Amino acid sequence: MTTTKGGLADVVAGQTAICTVGHAGDSLHYRGYSVSELSQHASFEEVAYLLIYGELPNLQQLKQYKQSLHSLKGLPQPICHLLKSMPATAHPMDVLRTTCSMLGTLEPVSANHTAQDIANRLLMLFPAALLYWYHFHLEGRSIDVMVEADSIAAYFLKLLLGKFENTIALHELIEKTLDISLILYAEHEFNASTFTARVCVSTLSDIYSGLTAAIGTLRGPLHGGANEAAMSLIQEFETAQAAEKGILQKLQDKKLIMGFGHRVYKTRDPRSDIIKAQSQKLSVALKDKKIFAVSQKIEEVMRAQKGLFPNLDFYSASAYYFCGIPTILFTPLFVISRLCGWTAHCIEQLQNNKLIRPTAEYTGPSPKPFVPLNDR
Ligand code: ACO
Repeated sequence: MTTTKGGLADVVAGQTAICTVGHAGDSLHYRGYSVSELSQHASFEEVAYLLIYGELPNLQQLKQYKQSLHSLKGLPQPICHLLKSMPATAHPMDVLRTTCSMLGTLEPVSANHTAQDIANRLLMLFPAALLYWYHFHLEGRSIDVMVEADSIAAYFLKLLLGKFENTIALHELIEKTLDISLILYAEHEFNASTFTARVCVSTLSDIYSGLTAAIGTLRGPLHGGANEAAMSLIQEFETAQAAEKGILQKLQDKKLIMGFGHRVYKTRDPRSDIIKAQSQKLSVALKDKKIFAVSQKIEEVMRAQKGLFPNLDFYSASAYYFCGIPTILFTPLFVISRLCGWTAHCIEQLQNNKLIRPTAEYTGPSPKPFVPLNDR
């Protein structure tokens, strides 16, 4: 009998040609391209295409792809009704999970509506559904989701914030930050939510089921929910000094500090410095004197005390905060991005499918005789 480490740590659970995590000095590559280069030189739409179709698009393909994405905007009436009927107290992750499942009944998979088509549709529908629900319940108004925008980041920000009050330079920095963040969140090998999606479609269930299950898995604070938890933590402190004292106390109390540590990376999360740089730029542009300083202090204390480094979620929190994004929308943004990776994995799983069904090491009682109800 083989005993595995808890949480399947270090277990190679399958093969993938989509992504490498943690190889060669804790780097990250999507289909061979380093995430650092992609975030510097590509747009999120190029990365979405790379993950969904397998290759980076050329100029013409990108133009067509963006046109086709924007033709996929719009919320079907039953989805609008559904969003209105969900309570204002719902977590937006539950809103997306339910919306995804509902869309599967309205626009099911078929030979003419493939996993790739569905991913593209959801790239445009998720921001719309999320922000339709958000504005309806917060402001009591139904927003028009058919607005013009040149990118998914711009579309999200337009639906969230409406008219920009900021200067053009700041507006561009915010849009760029969101675009980069979508690139960084897009794919990450056999993480919990992606593995969930693969297990689901390995039964030959449909892609909507895989994506819905993945959203439910991403929701938890040990996975995608960490960016929201990290923001709440940062906002607990008024100064860097208070952050130092507070984190030391939490560590003494054996509390988990959200946004730190990683199952696979050993020395650093290669995405963290990229989003940290964006967060710092925004902090300077907005003349922030608190949030970035508190974040840096938390990082410093975590390194010194635990040897732990920030993962992508930690500085994504302050970056999103500076972009004017409410905390409850942080993990849903992760969904909008990661849906590309999930789709790529579902497609890959089905190309060479084998039911994913491991075995367990039994730790229960030895066989014993059945006791009739009246004798127990
Ligand atoms: N805060 C405090 N201590 C920590 C943290 C943390 N964030 N992360 C790990 N540790 C400690 C553990 O308490 C443990 O200490 P011990 O050996 O004294 O008991 C040790 O480091 C090893 O931690 P494990 O939990 O065994 O490591 P594992 O690989 O299982 O966990 C995980 C990885 C879940 C990410 C963990 O680091 C964690 O809980 N981090 C906080 C949640 C988080 O940020 N999640 C986002 C992940 S990245 C993403 O989804 C984009």
